[in-house]
Amino acid sequence: MSSSSSSRAFFFFFFFLINVSLLLTLSSAADPFVSYEFEVSYITASPLGVPQQVIAINNKFPGPTINVTTNNNVAVNVRNKLDESLLIHWSGIQQRRTSWQDGVLGTNCPIPAKWNWTYQFQVKDQIGSFFYFPSLHLQRAAGGFGGFIINNRPIIPIPFDTPHGDIVVFIGDWYTRNHTDLRKALDDGKDLGMPDGVLINGKGPYRYNDTLVPDGIDYETIEVHPGKTYRLRVHNVGVSTSLNFRIQSHNLLLAETEGSYTVQQNYTSLDIHVGQSYSFLLSTDQNASTDYYIVASARFVNESRWQRVTGVAILRYTNSKGKARGPLPPGPDDQFDKTYSMNQARSIRWNVSASGARPNPQGSFRYGSINVTDIYVLKNKPLEKINGKQRATLSGNSFVNPSTPIRLADQYKLKGVYKLDFPTKPLTGSPRTETSIINGTYRGFMEVILQNNDTKMHTYHMSGYAFFVVGMDFGDWSENSRGTYNKWDGIARTTAQVYPGAWTAILVSLDNVGVWNLRTENLDSWYLGQETYVRVVNPEVNNKTELPIPDNALFCGALSKLQKPQKVSSDAPSITGNKLKLLFTWLVVWAWIHIFQ
Ligand SMILES: *[C@@H]1O[C@H](CO)[C@@H](O)[C@H](O)[C@H]1NC(C)=O
Ligand SMILES: *[C@@H]1O[C@H](CO)[C@@H](O)[C@H](O)[C@H]1NC(C)=O
Ligand SMILES: *[C@@H]1O[C@H](CO)[C@@H](O)[C@H](O)[C@H]1NC(C)=O
Ligand SMILES: *[C@@H]1O[C@H](CO)[C@@H](O)[C@H](O)[C@H]1NC(C)=O
Ligand SMILES: *[C@@H]1O[C@H](CO)[C@@H](O)[C@H](O)[C@H]1NC(C)=O
Ligand SMILES: *[C@@H]1O[C@H](CO)[C@@H](O)[C@H](O)[C@H]1NC(C)=O
Ligand SMILES: *[C@@H]1O[C@H](CO)[C@@H](O)[C@H](O)[C@H]1NC(C)=O
Ligand SMILES: *[C@@H]1O[C@H](CO)[C@@H](O)[C@H](O)[C@H]1NC(C)=O
Ligand SMILES: *[C@@H]1O[C@H](CO)[C@@H](O)[C@H](O)[C@H]1NC(C)=O
Ligand SMILES: *[C@@H]1O[C@H](CO)[C@@H](O)[C@H](O)[C@H]1NC(C)=O
Ligand SMILES: *[C@@H]1O[C@H](CO)[C@@H](O)[C@H](O)[C@H]1NC(C)=O
Ligand SMILES: *[C@@H]1O[C@H](CO)[C@@H](O)[C@H](O)[C@H]1NC(C)=O
Repeated sequence: MSSSSSSRAFFFFFFFLINVSLLLTLSSAADPFVSYEFEVSYITASPLGVPQQVIAINNKFPGPTINVTTNNNVAVNVRNKLDESLLIHWSGIQQRRTSWQDGVLGTNCPIPAKWNWTYQFQVKDQIGSFFYFPSLHLQRAAGGFGGFIINNRPIIPIPFDTPHGDIVVFIGDWYTRNHTDLRKALDDGKDLGMPDGVLINGKGPYRYNDTLVPDGIDYETIEVHPGKTYRLRVHNVGVSTSLNFRIQSHNLLLAETEGSYTVQQNYTSLDIHVGQSYSFLLSTDQNASTDYYIVASARFVNESRWQRVTGVAILRYTNSKGKARGPLPPGPDDQFDKTYSMNQARSIRWNVSASGARPNPQGSFRYGSINVTDIYVLKNKPLEKINGKQRATLSGNSFVNPSTPIRLADQYKLKGVYKLDFPTKPLTGSPRTETSIINGTYRGFMEVILQNNDTKMHTYHMSGYAFFVVGMDFGDWSENSRGTYNKWDGIARTTAQVYPGAWTAILVSLDNVGVWNLRTENLDSWYLGQETYVRVVNPEVNNKTELPIPDNALFCGALSKLQKPQKVSSDAPSITGNKLKLLFTWLVVWAWIHIFQ
């Protein structure tokens, strides 16, 4: 680092500190501000031994972890140094009253290449483990993801002893082709085919077998002290592969999923589907005679063909005596029977007596006694051709993103951007491509049945809310299926898996005004149109139920003439600029101390 850039870094850091403390002082009664700078760019990495362009944040792959506390105000200045547009989606962050910050095409104009844009939102009434990722152009297949932790406020106890450490783990299938090549395959109507491997924290497998794993692959090592308990936050950030996660000779005590504390139960392994997040408590209670394998292996596949597609990392005790040895711990041996996996999913329940983000118990919102106001049966199908193009559908509709985001179109009263006619039951007849969205009822209670008619596993996600997963079973859902719903301790979370040939039912309280994405997390099907939005409008427009459009809102599509040009600059502000800012900040501090105290 040259002396000018190091002094620049110093000023920048100093200025940042003062700003944060100033904001804390000025709003001591209000909620603290936390800011992050994200520089998104390509770097070359070879996770599977083949050099390729991956998407890094601040030169890190995976990106930095956002680690904040309930009700914090978070600002993230995203600098897009890619050669294409970008949006960062904060998956599972509810964005109370501000779908303007959700980072998907239905609510935000993309950040053009070389521009920057600052997200600003409050993590209101939330706790838990989430992750962020780039939502456009299949970019998640190239990286750009990172962890998002919301800690409990100190006054609210967590339902377990404070862990000795907090470890974020990303697992996901991976292709050695980059995302632009993968995108081209999908545009050409081709299947992505089998992934080339599974990465753990952006790294390839440990060489547990010389035939299966080439030499020279950099693998992840997680170091732990013996006799402690760690919180592992595991996220499946992959394209479309369901993974079984396990650690040799160790139990995984499930404690939290996507913002809810679960009934604590031990698992020897857990299926984690694309887009899902879980917190486990890991006791380092084994002897240190060797290191231990951490494994993420593909689920429901022909093991002999998929052996190479296995993620292997190392758990190393600080007093470890040697390397991990021998075969990997086996996963469930049931490739043709998904019953075990579904039963495991059903066993994940809400701890109704634990406090979540608020002091009152999680279960005090008695969802089982609320009357349903709207019912949607959403059914997918295997990919099909529509007007000669390979597309993915939901209820017979393949979604087309409008060039003007839905929320922005509403703000400017533009007509004809979308249709509020998403069908309550799957359309019969030939499929269509349409910008068709769900007319949500503000303060309604919506029941959504997700019916998977595809041959693959799907995970569905809805922005803006946590929903209750009340039931799942094989076969077609019918009115009688309601008799099997869990009306007491179904888990509230932000994703739900739906097994092929099966259904999953969710309940959601539409109390968050905005336009919210409802999609499959499987990247290829999402890219090909398997999504929609739920538009929730308060008939009495006010600033209490929805925040005003942000000052820095980007404009595009029919509104692009409202967009002011942005100075395309790749440099941080100059030293002089920072000195001035610093001086100004000192003046404000001085004034604050001497005049207002
Ligand atoms: C992806 O790889 C292709 C070659 O296979 C290359 O032409 C292209 O520039 C790469 N894209 C990125 C973003 O690295
Ligand atoms: C871009 O970054 C600069 C410098 O940090 C900041 O002042 C500006 O507000 C950002 N622009 C937007 C649109 O967020
Ligand atoms: C549920 O939460 C309560 C309250 O924090 C805690 O004492 C209890 O151990 C938890 N129960 C289970 C089964 O995890
Ligand atoms: C997040 O911050 C808390 C303190 O606020 C710390 O205990 C924890 O280790 C941090 N987690 C990560 C993953 O950085
Ligand atoms: C490595 O994997 C190959 C292919 O599955 C298998 O035949 C071989 O026995 C394994 N080697 C060891 C040492 O386990
Ligand atoms: C989970 O397993 C650990 C041993 O790894 C044991 O100490 C603990 O009591 C078990 N907890 C539950 C809730 O079964
Ligand atoms: C250490 O633990 C491993 C696996 O649990 C076991 O196979 C081994 O016998 C143990 N060694 C000693 C010295 O206790
Ligand atoms: C699994 O794949 C192997 C290798 O391609 C093949 O020989 C075997 O028949 C397959 N097994 C099943 C049950 O499909
Ligand atoms: C739900 O509906 C039933 C009958 O339609 C009604 O009697 C009951 O009061 C309603 N419950 C609530 C909580 O609104
Ligand atoms: C949307 O729903 C509201 C009631 O929530 C209703 O008044 C309105 O007519 C509906 N709009 C359409 C286009 O169906
Ligand atoms: C898909 O739907 C058709 C028609 O209802 C049914 O015959 C078929 O079994 C379903 N397949 C799956 C995998 O659900
Ligand atoms: C909401 O706030 C904005 C800006 O703060 C203001 O222009 C607008 O009039 C307010 N709207 C209502 C309905 O209060």
